Amino acid sequence: MLYSEKVMDHFANPRNVGELENPDGVGEVGNAKCGDIMKMFLKIEGGKITDVRFKTFGCGAAIATSSMATELIKGQTIEEALKLTNKAVVEALDGLPPAKLHCSVLAEQAIKTALADYYRRNGVDPTPLVGEISGECDGHCCH
Ligand code: FES
Repeated sequence: MLYSEKVMDHFANPRNVGELENPDGVGEVGNAKCGDIMKMFLKIEGGKITDVRFKTFGCGAAIATSSMATELIKGQTIEEALKLTNKAVVEALDGLPPAKLHCSVLAEQAIKTALADYYRRNGVDPTPLVGEISGECDGHCCH
């Protein structure tokens, strides 16, 4: 089978879909490869991600990876969430077909962009903490 059971489950029943009222950070990114879009909303209290929602105009693999990514970061500290890679999300889903790996980058980058937004709202320059977010696959996933 092309897609793992976990991918199919998160695609059919995505967790944490929607928006948050009064979010503490919002990130929107586009996938340079396909033009799809992802938006991530975070609630942050005491340095921890207490709630997260996402909306995407993206494919099934983007939905499944975002769903899994939101489950992974919920309850984590900002520092832990910043370390989440698309590779870890793909592993948690028992893999993706190589042609769909680029889709998983959207979730990782949307989370980083939302955290950068949180830092900015709090008067902190996010670049040294979050790094540059290019919107491009940086090569650790799809090549
Ligand atoms: Fe665009 Fe998957 S094809 S995110």
